[in-house]
Amino acid sequence: MNDTHVGAELAPEARFDAVAADYEKHVTPLFRGPAADLIERAALQPGEKVLDVGTGPGLAALFAASKVGPTGSVTGVDLSEAMLAIARQRAAKEGLGVEYLRGDAEALDYPAGSFDAVVSNFGLGTTDPDRSLPSIRRVIKPGGRFALTHWGPSSRPAQAFYDLMRRRRVAEPTPRLEWLRNTDLTARPWESQIKTPEALAALLAGHGFQNVQSSLREYAFTFADSDAYLDMSLSFPLSRAEFDALSPGNQRMFKHEFNALMAPFRGPNRSVISRDAILFAVARAPDDPHSAALRGTGRSPG
Ligand SMILES: C[S@@+](CC[C@H](N)C(=O)[O-])C[C@H]1O[C@@H](n2cnc3c(N)ncnc32)[C@H](O)[C@@H]1O
Repeated sequence: MNDTHVGAELAPEARFDAVAADYEKHVTPLFRGPAADLIERAALQPGEKVLDVGTGPGLAALFAASKVGPTGSVTGVDLSEAMLAIARQRAAKEGLGVEYLRGDAEALDYPAGSFDAVVSNFGLGTTDPDRSLPSIRRVIKPGGRFALTHWGPSSRPAQAFYDLMRRRRVAEPTPRLEWLRNTDLTARPWESQIKTPEALAALLAGHGFQNVQSSLREYAFTFADSDAYLDMSLSFPLSRAEFDALSPGNQRMFKHEFNALMAPFRGPNRSVISRDAILFAVARAPDDPHSAALRGTGRSPG
């Protein structure tokens, strides 16, 4: 493997490129509900100009397009070209005019005040909020809206998955796996600190957003069996890489152990039910962007 290959493998977009097809198959169907609820809360109006950040397979952007109608416009940005390709296919199939473009949440390349609203459905968890939130605030018109979702505390099946993965993971990771361990969700402030509506509201207020309304909503996600739950869990970059690093024998053992761990969460016919708490927030960009800039853009300490 030459240096260029290693470099490309470790580029931020490579995280989700590697799982895009599985994510579309196993995660997108789950996210329909939260994405639709997010767009309702954003209260988009016909004619508005909307940006969906970390659009992935593009679902929230499509829901937004049906709200703003032909006189409005929706752009979805993502780092991952593989995700964007899936989003473009879906938009073409549904005949909705969303523009999907490569873009970085931490450095959005639009003039200040370009959008009436920015939305993000689980799109910011791997970003540095001290970079992504100021970048988002800058591109929203004064008084415009920002609406987002993020995972609340892990559900019990998810916790069982993470605990098992931590117990069984390889001791000697490849450079890519080590990079994912160091940079993926669990190493980010979102995952360690932003788990309650209050913490999310404080984060947004600390970055100059106003009228922040945040809440936690529970969704019951049903999977056909524990293998289906595992397929969903392995559609995220770090978990996929951890599982792929196990020997075939250890993968079999992992599945077997995981199946047993799902016993308390069984529904009818071997199904697994995961009750997941999801954080929502809706906020406004300041009417006078300069006043917020004067207060600073960093989170308040503590
Ligand atoms: C958990 S997925 C959410 C995707 C989609 N919004 C959904 O509802 O399914 C996170 C997405 O954010 C993207 N992403 C991560 N960091 C990003 C960044 N700095 N800028 C833009 N997109 C980013 C990833 O490529 C991935 O597609």
